Amino acid sequence: MRIQNKEYITIWLTADDELQIIDQTKLPAEFEIVTLKSNEDVCTAVSSMQVRGAGLIGVTAGYGVYLIAKNFSGQNNWLAYMQEECNKLLKTRPTAKNLSYALERQAKIWQNFAPKEALPKLREEALNLAQEDIDFCKRIGEHGKKLIEEIAKKKKGQPVNILTHCNAGWLAFTDYGSALSPVYTAFNAGIAVHVYVDETRPRNQGASLTAFELAEHNVPHTLISDNVGGHLMQHKMIDMVIVGADRVTRNGDVANKIGTYLKALAAHADHIPFYVALPSSTFDFSLFDGVKEIEIEERNARETEYITGYYYDNAGQKHVQEVRICPEKTKGLNFAFDVTPHTLITGLITERGIMQANENAILTLYPEAKQYCK
Ligand code: MRU
Repeated sequence: MRIQNKEYITIWLTADDELQIIDQTKLPAEFEIVTLKSNEDVCTAVSSMQVRGAGLIGVTAGYGVYLIAKNFSGQNNWLAYMQEECNKLLKTRPTAKNLSYALERQAKIWQNFAPKEALPKLREEALNLAQEDIDFCKRIGEHGKKLIEEIAKKKKGQPVNILTHCNAGWLAFTDYGSALSPVYTAFNAGIAVHVYVDETRPRNQGASLTAFELAEHNVPHTLISDNVGGHLMQHKMIDMVIVGADRVTRNGDVANKIGTYLKALAAHADHIPFYVALPSSTFDFSLFDGVKEIEIEERNARETEYITGYYYDNAGQKHVQEVRICPEKTKGLNFAFDVTPHTLITGLITERGIMQANENAILTLYPEAKQYCK
């Protein structure tokens, strides 16, 4: 995807085999590329959200395992060392399924090969995970575009108004994104689209990342505060909602950024189609009831008590500043995700196609999930 007219993906290996990322904590004020040298760097990047978004967390973990193996000194026991370091990675963020998906793929290699043989294979698998993420997101875009196109036909040239929550664009993956991939595909095909972007407190991934992506790609969009969506839906100012997902159970319950559930309730009440876009690496077929079974990450309350932004001083210098927004004595509570029950979801857009959010429909497109049915 483009930033200042230059093509980027979100994570890559340089010609010198260095792992680099775009530091997403700095956007939109600064565009900074950071090099990750060790598993400690990777764990910090994931937990501090320099890299974030389900797909990118998974791909970063894939590269992280390669770095772990590369830094093996030869003095410890290979299997014990790999297990211990991978466990550190697994603990960084609990909700996005893509993290364990990538670690499990890499474990099949390091558990079965000695260090020298494993190293090139782990590198190749990390690259495969990144490429798979790109391919899946591209196909999600092609499938999802058809839904936008159908609405566009009825609107006869008027823009299709799409609401999205948080950031499930290319910054949340290696490229393209999940929820925003249909938007980019439709926009690139000349379909008139307009995106309402939820700011997404407390970390404002909508305001700082989704708006940034859309602006760089020249997609028409409007930033709204989190509470505006219901009003827009009531007044038929939204044609469809598309959000991403961090973990989806085999009956179609969806864990996504906190606040998604409220949007789904409003969309249901106002008969607005509500779609969830995800690659198969986000499915957790071992789970059924999302509300009961999905672990929800609770982050530092500081993220709720403070807000960060940027301003220009009189000399035109840009400054980033964090300010407290509540009394000193007030404590915040910061659940990062919530679960939207499948009954509120119109459909799931995946790389294999669009399906209803229920067990039968999911098993039809993903027969491999049958092994988990009791
Ligand atoms: O906490 P984050 O920024 O890692 O959360 C992930 C998200 O941006 C959203 O929940 C998104 O819709 C799903 S990730 C593709």
